[in-house]
Amino acid sequence: MSILNGKKIVLGVTAGIAAYKAAFLVRLLVKEGAEVKVVMTPKAKEFVTPLTLSTLSKNEVLSSFTNEDDDTAQWNNHVALGLWADLIVVAPATANTLSKMAHGTSDNLLLAVYLSAKCPVYYAPAMDLDMYKHPSTKATFNTLESFGNIKIEAEHGELASGLIGEGRMAEPENIIQKIKDHMLLGLPLKDKKLLITAGPTYEAIDPVRFIGNHSSGKMGIAIAQHAVSLGAKVTLVLGPSSVVFDRKSMKVVDVVSAEQMYEAVHKEFNSSNIAILSAAVADYRPTKVSAEKIKKTERTLTIQLEKTQDILASIGKIKEHQFLVGFALETQNEIENAKKKLEKKNLDLIILNSLRDKGAGFKGDTNKITIIEKDNKTTPFEVKSKDDVAKDILNHIITRIHA
Ligand code: CTP
Repeated sequence: MSILNGKKIVLGVTAGIAAYKAAFLVRLLVKEGAEVKVVMTPKAKEFVTPLTLSTLSKNEVLSSFTNEDDDTAQWNNHVALGLWADLIVVAPATANTLSKMAHGTSDNLLLAVYLSAKCPVYYAPAMDLDMYKHPSTKATFNTLESFGNIKIEAEHGELASGLIGEGRMAEPENIIQKIKDHMLLGLPLKDKKLLITAGPTYEAIDPVRFIGNHSSGKMGIAIAQHAVSLGAKVTLVLGPSSVVFDRKSMKVVDVVSAEQMYEAVHKEFNSSNIAILSAAVADYRPTKVSAEKIKKTERTLTIQLEKTQDILASIGKIKEHQFLVGFALETQNEIENAKKKLEKKNLDLIILNSLRDKGAGFKGDTNKITIIEKDNKTTPFEVKSKDDVAKDILNHIITRIHA
């Protein structure tokens, strides 16, 4: 999944010949999964039509503080638009607009949106080579850099004037690549490999029956998805689960039984940096799996069970550099039992769910956790959605591994 997937982007288009390339840029951003709203300076409309850009972005294109075409003129709220954006990209960015950005001028909607925004701002200059080299333009770039705005260098090539040199707007593909690279740099789990287990396991009794549990897999899947958005490379070893999620953004290994989960985890563990085992693994499985469907001939039926391997404990024994996280689902002496588990299984951190807490547990969309660390530091959290709990868990791990 692209890091731009789901990102809300304001694309500022200013009045330069390269404005026609904004159409390609919109198309590529939409292809990456971003939601794009185009804001044009009034003069930019002479270089590319709002109709082209609104069709490609599937959003209305704005260029003035009010909707001129409308009898009942509406105010285009630049503050709301600035705050809506996860990032702003100004491409092409003319010397004129860049200078106004550097000096806080606000004589068009794009500049007002820029001044209202709190998100990262990228800009791709487009101008003639002498303008690009001018000390005044350089001073503008320095000022914008001091604001934290990110410049996407112009490229060398033929310019609208017919001269050859630096000043051509970077190609749309390159603009997108630079933005993606820059965004990845700031991600706390970049280059980290995460191994996550989730869901229940099913232990076969015969060809049609099994012993299972009510785990949905939602908690582990939420952790996996959030880890991806923080830049991690994720392998999710997943027991039978009906949750629908974006499988393409990670490596998903589907398993059924505890034994299969054990094999899959051991195959991946060595190359992982962090392992979070949230699966509700069956503790026991039938000693024998009947080859045929068991008939209801007897009045009672006894199935003998044997212990499955404890996957978490087994990797706790071989762990070296890895940061190891386990879950504990307890009904009594919660903290004490969780601490014992943390020690016995050689974990760095354990996440406690108490079945006595309302809103915690297997099936629902919420969870209530307490995080307990190796040094006994204990942090309780409120009831939250599983997505927010996933964020808390990963934030906690990140502060620990960077400590
Ligand atoms: N776990 C595992 N393999 C198993 C059983 C459990 O990897 N065969 C992991 C779970 O994914 C979870 C943690 O161990 O992270 C805690 O599991 P839990 O069932 O609560 O604890 P147990 O160690 O099985 O102890 P008990 O059943 O006595 O509470």
